[in-house]
Amino acid sequence: MRESPKGRPTPLPSGHRLHRRATAHAAAVFVAEHIARVIEHHAGLRAGGRAVLGLATGKTPIGVYDELARLHEGGLSFANVETFNLDEYWPIALDHPASFHRFMHEQLFDRVDIPRGMRHVPNGSVPEGAIERHAADYEASITRAGGVQLQLLGIGGNGHIGFNEPGSPRSGRTRRVTLAAQTRADNAGAFGDQDAVPTHAITMGIGTILDARAIVVLAIGKRKADIVRAALLGPITEDVPASLLRTHRAVHWVLDADAASALPQ
Ligand code: F6R
Repeated sequence: MRESPKGRPTPLPSGHRLHRRATAHAAAVFVAEHIARVIEHHAGLRAGGRAVLGLATGKTPIGVYDELARLHEGGLSFANVETFNLDEYWPIALDHPASFHRFMHEQLFDRVDIPRGMRHVPNGSVPEGAIERHAADYEASITRAGGVQLQLLGIGGNGHIGFNEPGSPRSGRTRRVTLAAQTRADNAGAFGDQDAVPTHAITMGIGTILDARAIVVLAIGKRKADIVRAALLGPITEDVPASLLRTHRAVHWVLDADAASALPQ
């Protein structure tokens, strides 16, 4: 629902669905089951069929990865899955406790059976002079995989998607970016303090994200309520990168009650 000039809710863009769930757990289970269906669908299409997933890090998807690990224990195979993560800090060692590489291993890769060469995360340890090449290679591997079929996203408190901060171009591709002060503050916990958070990151661009065939945005908690409202009801603008998702043809917005609390009923 988008707000009409009189404040009445009007429908979301066609191809978009809003899913409200009472709890963060219910929202995570909903997203995990959606991902599982995509994996099973592609496994069933033809021998060697592959599900290409875009993945996110941060607090938001942890419940989704827990549920995917549980589904794997129950028999869901990830043998036909290839994954591309949105972003990674730069510079950062692969095994740094707060690196997204490490996060993905702990939260998902070490708990399911995605083949080793099929898990891609931008490499925050490449030297500065090699970033451009690395970013171009990352884009090329997404293309080689046939493109991302389902992209999972969280939303930053300032509306960023991936690490595309406000003002990032709609057509942007994978590249090095400077992190906003708010983003570094929001992520200080993992590093001990804000000054220890890297100043930069390597992120898929908004253009890369919008190329995904379908997108699932997950938002959890009161602290996301205002930015969810701005993304869904405010102007579509590069100042609120998540609002640009409204130009995509197939987006599921999955919200727990707190994240949905600033939206009209
Ligand atoms: C993470 C990412 C970011 C996060 C966003 C929300 O890969 O790209 O856009 O999704 O910063 O972070 P959390 O989930 O920690 O609130």
